[in-house]
Amino acid sequence: MEKEKLKALLDDMSLKEKADQMLQLMGAFYQEDKEGILTGPARDMGVGEEDIQLAGSILGTYGAGKLKKLQKEYMEKQPHHIPMLFMMDVIHGMKTVFPMPLAQGAAFDPELSEKCAAAAAKEAAVSGLHVTFSPMVDLVRDARWGRVMESTGEDPYLNSRLAQAQVKGFQGEDMGAPYKVCSCIKHFAAYGGAQAGRDYNTVELCEHTLRDFYLPSYKAGIDAGAGMVMTSFNTVNGIPASTNKWLMRDVLRKEMGFDGVLISDFSAILETVAHGHSKDEADAARKALEAGVDIDMMTSVYSANLCKLVEEGVVDEALIDEGVMRILELKNRLGLFENPYKDADEEEEKTVILCKEHRNLAREAAGKSFVLLKNEGILPAAPGKKTAFIGPYTDNKEIISSWAILGDVASCVTIKEAAEKVFDPGLTTFCSGSPVLSERELKGLVGFGPGKPVSVSEEEQEKLLQEAVEAAKEVELVIMPLGEHYLQSGEATSRGMIDLPEAQVRLLREVAKVNENIAVVLFTGRPLDLREVSRIARSVLVVWLPGTEGGAAAVDVLTGKVNPSGKLPMSFPYCTGQIPVHYNAYSTGRPDNVGEVRFRSKYIDIPNEPLYPFGYGLSYTKFEISPVKLSGGVVTDEKAVTASVTVKNTGERAGTEVVQLYLQDIAASVVRPVKELKGFVKAELEAGEEKEITFVIDEPMLRFLRADGTVGSEEGEFNLFIGNSSDTDNQAKFRYES
Ligand code: GLC
Repeated sequence: MEKEKLKALLDDMSLKEKADQMLQLMGAFYQEDKEGILTGPARDMGVGEEDIQLAGSILGTYGAGKLKKLQKEYMEKQPHHIPMLFMMDVIHGMKTVFPMPLAQGAAFDPELSEKCAAAAAKEAAVSGLHVTFSPMVDLVRDARWGRVMESTGEDPYLNSRLAQAQVKGFQGEDMGAPYKVCSCIKHFAAYGGAQAGRDYNTVELCEHTLRDFYLPSYKAGIDAGAGMVMTSFNTVNGIPASTNKWLMRDVLRKEMGFDGVLISDFSAILETVAHGHSKDEADAARKALEAGVDIDMMTSVYSANLCKLVEEGVVDEALIDEGVMRILELKNRLGLFENPYKDADEEEEKTVILCKEHRNLAREAAGKSFVLLKNEGILPAAPGKKTAFIGPYTDNKEIISSWAILGDVASCVTIKEAAEKVFDPGLTTFCSGSPVLSERELKGLVGFGPGKPVSVSEEEQEKLLQEAVEAAKEVELVIMPLGEHYLQSGEATSRGMIDLPEAQVRLLREVAKVNENIAVVLFTGRPLDLREVSRIARSVLVVWLPGTEGGAAAVDVLTGKVNPSGKLPMSFPYCTGQIPVHYNAYSTGRPDNVGEVRFRSKYIDIPNEPLYPFGYGLSYTKFEISPVKLSGGVVTDEKAVTASVTVKNTGERAGTEVVQLYLQDIAASVVRPVKELKGFVKAELEAGEEKEITFVIDEPMLRFLRADGTVGSEEGEFNLFIGNSSDTDNQAKFRYES
């Protein structure tokens, strides 16, 4: 529809109709039982029948047939027959589930993430959906926060590359094209900075840190064309994001140039009363509208107050018109005025969802996301060896994450199902050895509904343990699929102790007493304290929450069919007390790099370094990276310098090395991180093969937020590092002269 017609439509709408375009309800409000809804959740929420009929969008419902019926009935009653928007959390896959986002960060593969997002978009689109609340691009440094699983990690550059890739995968060049959906960047802003890793907690960041580390990935998603942004629950320096005019009007809209729809997180506008920023719901409505929030997710703050605020002259109707126009423009970009059903298609649902192509992609993506942290020669598992798979993830289909809310668990492939196809049945045994969680740990999962695991009696646990120990005695290799329960990560799952579940620690210890050849396969939504696991196991392979084909991908890697190439997108801390720990930290005035000296920035009981650093990951082969070669020693505004290394596969099998480029601005108007990732290349090499990898170092790469508040570069010395982990010391020096 042309812009003028949209404007004419807006001008013809009543104030109430406009206000309710800014209301988003759960799809459950549109089920048959109207009475039950009206006298139940709707009444509790303060939403009336008229609001339900006029709401501009819904979330949480999908299905081609259901949404086509809903749209038809809704549009017949909508005074201007304006189509409704259908939104959903399709975070890392819909029915076919891809590796969780932190695992996709470990793959260091934007093209791969783009393909995964495109496949997810296709399944979502044929199911009738128009918008996905993805990607979450919050930078994370605190593994106590359960939502690190939803992020791509601790680095602004990696997060930016993957944000851009996912938006392009979801939206393509035109979100109105077939099988594309609108992508919603979230959560603006800095939700990952919640103090102490406690969800929804306060975020206090100086503007320098906010801009240098936390904002770049949102900007990358917006520059990639994301049609929507979601506000975050947290305060940003004392003001809740959803009513933070500076953050939303000045930073998001003016500076970043975002002109799409800004939606609140679930009840986040109402929660500004609990935050102590809005004195009541009417005040919250005014502040959020003035901040430029266009859609109120699942409260009646807008629908119950905006009309009155306009009638009383408290808010300008023009602010409502601005927000509603953005909503109409989004519906228009999706082509809904011409075709309100877009790609909804019951027949295509049957052929697209969980199709072989998507499953193969899920398997490939999982295999590329795994990170080999340790391997003392017992992986890949040699065929013909007596092997026992022992652990609660041996035959467990719950490997798709708590945010894979539409994922089809039954369609997941377990390690056992995959192993039975390739391991000699006469030489291989399988047992769980323990429940995933103990009774005590189960108690923490309050309100987790149907997915919550059942408890296992003490006697049963003893029986499982004895069976496992017996199985371990008889074999040459014990593969132990262990890990967090999938409900222990995701929203509202902050943990004060990031340990492996206690029943599994006991299992590991008991098995180790009878067999030292242990390879741990770790399912987890977050970095864990792996000191004991690393001490006991001879191999440790992190498989995260790998998605629908996770078990098949795990066996591909365990058998060497796939050579692991993942690199950590987030540091694994030495212990919880070391958090926050991240590679791109500042030097301090007393760096702990002068030997055994007391008065330095360090702990007296643990090291400063994480157990495993950002960018780290092993392979089944060996790679040698040559010293850095520079094409010159000075970068100027006109002249770039190239930095090259030769990477050689000195092992016996093909493999992929993620070659990483880091810079350090040695002295600047504000202190700079000791290393900053500025580029990476995935080098696929046959055994014995070598390749030259070259990076271009130019002036834009050196820019940062300077002390005077402007963004730019400053003259001076730089260290440059090229290696296969953030702890590389393969370095060279250059100068920048303006
Ligand atoms: C949740 C999450 C957000 C999600 C929204 C809708 O509380 O914070 O990421 O998109 O509600 O489900």
